[in-house]
Amino acid sequence: MSKIKSRNKPDAGALPARGWSGRFGEPMSERMQRFNASVDFDRRLASADIAGSLAHARMLAATGVLSAADLAAIERGLKEIEGEIERGEFVWTRALEDVHLNIEHRLTALVGDAGKRLHTARSRNDQVATDTRLWLREAVDALTVQLRALRKALIDLAETHADTIMPGFTHLQVAQPVTFGHHLLAYEAMLARDAERLADGRSRINRLPLGSAALAGTSYPIDRQRVAEELGFEALCSNSLDAVSDRDFAVEFAAAAALIMVHLSRFAEELVIWSSPRFGFVTVADRFCTGSSIMPQKRNPDVAELVRGKTARVIGHLTALLVLMKAQPLAYNKDNQEDKEPLFDTVDTLADCLAILTELIETGLTPVPERMRAAASEGFATATDLADYLVRKGMPFRDAHEVVARAVRHAEQKGCDLAGLPLADLQRFAPLVDEGVFRVLTLEGSVASRDHPGGTAPAQVRAAAKAARAALDRT
Ligand code: ARG
Repeated sequence: MSKIKSRNKPDAGALPARGWSGRFGEPMSERMQRFNASVDFDRRLASADIAGSLAHARMLAATGVLSAADLAAIERGLKEIEGEIERGEFVWTRALEDVHLNIEHRLTALVGDAGKRLHTARSRNDQVATDTRLWLREAVDALTVQLRALRKALIDLAETHADTIMPGFTHLQVAQPVTFGHHLLAYEAMLARDAERLADGRSRINRLPLGSAALAGTSYPIDRQRVAEELGFEALCSNSLDAVSDRDFAVEFAAAAALIMVHLSRFAEELVIWSSPRFGFVTVADRFCTGSSIMPQKRNPDVAELVRGKTARVIGHLTALLVLMKAQPLAYNKDNQEDKEPLFDTVDTLADCLAILTELIETGLTPVPERMRAAASEGFATATDLADYLVRKGMPFRDAHEVVARAVRHAEQKGCDLAGLPLADLQRFAPLVDEGVFRVLTLEGSVASRDHPGGTAPAQVRAAAKAARAALDRT
């Protein structure tokens, strides 16, 4: 194949303003320029763009499309640009639309014609898809580390509170006693699934679109496998039309992120409830709370409320991405430029929420076991244990349920808990009750009896925490 001849002298002004304006008889209007430009936000893709360009250029040199001299010039120029961006010296221009044209234009200014040859055998369509995947892959890896830190914080606290008794709720009514550790590990279980989802989605992010060019592929001899290897992609996107237009990877990520936020939001909701003076199950350190400008007594759990509130944004971004895609014919359409802001904000919001919740749990959350215990003692939380006791003595469960319901009503009228009723009272409802019943009616007896994998017995909670800790290193 023929090598494109290189003249390596810097040639700043030769690139038409936007890389495509030759076809047009008039410049873009001011308003159109602003409307069309994405550089204000997509400059976040700069280092991914440079990495993609380097891999592309090296491949073109290896297959003989670019000369060694051109490659050297491109490598030198991109390195210089990377430094300029890092130092904040790079001049971004809206007239150059997006991150890709800004960098290419600067490259040409620095190294001349070699810069113009970089775009051989590629299009911004496969370029932006590649950049977005590279950027998102890195973001997923960073979020996974953050998620792990939050999971570790939950496991640590759960281990400390494997024996701490609190009421478990259904319908937000006291249901049965559980341990605080068990409750915390429920969130760890959600986040462990989230980590699996991120890892699973990562494998579909990690496929290479480059080589698809505008939509149909390219007539140059390219080596996509080589580019994939250099950039750490696991596979090639298999169809060029799909490769330039597919944003499934972004939708899948946004869905995983939305679900993580839903889990954080549920936890945040619990923090709001637990920290309210009525519950008083936890206190949140002052540095994570705000006051009221009018009510001096207030300590508001703003972190939790903001996490809950920001969940709405992330769910909105998932919706935005789905709707963005739903009516696009093949292949690339400019609509796709609208994928960036939802994607970036999803990553930023999730990262912020994970960071502050982790810090809060590690350093600013003080459980109040006495309050939890008091609440568990008040709500007839061991009623099911009494029914199970009667069943073990031979009573059919439905009858036992009925008997206990009557005993609960009686205790309620007397203003005491089931364990506070004299044996004679309990025997009025069920003659087969004996002294042993009081062991069953204690909160400790209740949680200890749920002694199977997944149950709330302190021994099981300790085992679950250990298993979760071991699994942390695997996801
Ligand atoms: N800024 C564009 C985007 O984010 C880059 C691709 C533009 N491609 C095009 N044919 N105009 O999608």
